[in-house]
Amino acid sequence: MIADSPLVLAATRRPVPHTPAWFMRQAGRSLPEYRELREGTDMLDACRTPDLVTEITLQPVRRHKVDAAIFFSDIVVPVAAVGVDLSIVPGTGPVVAAPFRTRADLDRLPDLTPDAIPDITESVQRLVAELGSTPLIGFAGAPFTLASYLVEGGPSKTHERTKALMHGDPQLWNDLCERLAQISGAFLRAQVEAGASAIQLFDSWVGALPRADYTAYVQKHSTAALAAVADLGVPRIHFGVGTGELLDLMGEAGADVVGVDYRVSLTDAVARLGDSYAVQGNLDPALLGAPWEVLEARVRAIVDEGRNAPGHIFNLGHGVPPHADPDVLTRIVEVVHEHSAR
Ligand code: CP3
Repeated sequence: MIADSPLVLAATRRPVPHTPAWFMRQAGRSLPEYRELREGTDMLDACRTPDLVTEITLQPVRRHKVDAAIFFSDIVVPVAAVGVDLSIVPGTGPVVAAPFRTRADLDRLPDLTPDAIPDITESVQRLVAELGSTPLIGFAGAPFTLASYLVEGGPSKTHERTKALMHGDPQLWNDLCERLAQISGAFLRAQVEAGASAIQLFDSWVGALPRADYTAYVQKHSTAALAAVADLGVPRIHFGVGTGELLDLMGEAGADVVGVDYRVSLTDAVARLGDSYAVQGNLDPALLGAPWEVLEARVRAIVDEGRNAPGHIFNLGHGVPPHADPDVLTRIVEVVHEHSAR
């Protein structure tokens, strides 16, 4: 039963037989079988092809014996589904043909309705049937991170135009984020209604903001996206990079589990969050290349810290890098399971 799976138990702060483990970006270029399957197919096209989505999502589950599958897609898929002209450029990320800067640009962001994404429903249904007792995690991008791609036109380290819009025209910023929250929420809802057992909201780049700005300009929109699946009873994970100062606010937005990157220890994260949330994390992906003994000791230490959390899901502090050795990931899952067995 999926309700008794270690992932769902940990997310809902109940006792687990072992600490569950999965990896952000577990499906992807670190796997030779992924590279082979993706060859010659554009990323966005792959995300809309149920045969590919199903197979790519299952690859890391078979190989690593992780405790969850994450739906193979991308945070910009629902934005493209409502008609925004964008592409995912290999080695760069999402690039938007005409960046969003004015009120007129809002006309390019209609609501997302399920009829625009029948393939997503089909892929999820097929996956859930194949996965059996392994939960499928659905996901979406949070309004801030999506807005950053739309406003900057592509990846940004400084988010300058995004912050300029947020502070310079708060009304337009709010209207933009309201639309993005609808789109994210509808994308999450479609996945859960098709059978996903948990969801993760990725606010990858929101760590660029101070608390006051998060509270004033972001939190209510992420709350709205998470609220779209509140009645469906699945655990909700909320993750960002460099968000140590925002953890409690991200929890308050409606999460059951707060994702922690490697900059803050799980012990400190729990001290900041209290006992109302489970935590997810937080091995530094850079350590995947360290000598095995060093890495193994770090994995064990994270599992030990996690025992003092109300619930712990083992993960990396961010995604698997493309050059990671997949055998190392498999061994990490084995160590987490062995070392945490109750
Ligand atoms: O295994 C999984 O985690 C599921 C699949 C997944 C992808 N993107 C596939 C992907 C998930 C959950 C995402 C989310 C995503 N996409 C985020 C949030 C997670 C995070 O990393 O913080 C963000 C910021 C994006 C935007 C995006 N899409 C980036 C930054 C990139 C990488 C660009 C590159 O080539 O380095 C993408 C493309 C992308 N999304 C790839 C994959 C497997 C690589 C595409 C390829 O194989 O060519």
